Amino acid sequence: MEIVRKISQARSLAKQWKNSGLSVGFVPTMGYLHQGHLSLVERSAAENDKTIVSIFVNPTQFGPTEDLETYPRDLRADLALCEDAKADLVFCPGADDMYRPGSCTFVEVSGSLTAGLCGASRPDLFRGVATVVTKLFSIALPTRAYFGQKDAQQLAVIKRMVEDLDMDIEIVSCPTVREDDGLAKSSRNSYLTPEQRVAARVVSRAVFEGERLIAAGERDPVKVTASMRKIVEAEPLARIDYIEVVSAQTMEKPEKIDGSILGALAVFVGDTRLIDNFILHV
Ligand code: PAF
Repeated sequence: MEIVRKISQARSLAKQWKNSGLSVGFVPTMGYLHQGHLSLVERSAAENDKTIVSIFVNPTQFGPTEDLETYPRDLRADLALCEDAKADLVFCPGADDMYRPGSCTFVEVSGSLTAGLCGASRPDLFRGVATVVTKLFSIALPTRAYFGQKDAQQLAVIKRMVEDLDMDIEIVSCPTVREDDGLAKSSRNSYLTPEQRVAARVVSRAVFEGERLIAAGERDPVKVTASMRKIVEAEPLARIDYIEVVSAQTMEKPEKIDGSILGALAVFVGDTRLIDNFILHV
């Protein structure tokens, strides 16, 4: 497995592979890898000739009061995990390489896809994500890129961006990986104290309840979100940021549940903001 820090090194290897007719799978990450990330790397390795993983805590997607400085980092462990998961190249640039002085170009996906849910509470998030993912795509030259469904809104934004900008890249959506008690795997779970970790169970319990209600025939989004809300509100350590049922395609709120539906929530447990969701086709 190659490990490179420079954009030019990563691009030159990616170009070499593409020019030899090899397919390249790409998994962009912010590091502190867990089984959710590794499931993407393993899938990419199974579906492509070469797999590139990027590890970069992207400053442009954090708001001024968010956890950029404290975001967990462990490059040594990440590299060992990438090797085990059969990555061929890990690209881990520094922030100064990715954003050189004077850099002032951003990619913005506008409209309903980014206006609500995480876009409402984290206004810098999707502009930062779309910009860095565009840059990483232009370095890694992937045939396919792998993203987790846990970040369902991010996935919808990336899919739209790839379509709108005519990028010749297949975006592959992979299922959320969970802990035994249901909590969705996330690098930010490491912030939780043991007491908060127990309290965090309400997040996935709310997801499973929303999913269950719709699968059982409930079609009123207000009733579904009210039941999900009740579960989270019963936990004193949890504070709701949002709980919504929206169209999985447009992220708009429907009058009635129909078609592809995303039920999504963001909940603070202490200072840690956790997200989770379900997607159903009814
Ligand atoms: O999902 C993430 O970890 C990040 O948002 C991504 C896609 C690596 C962009 O920084």
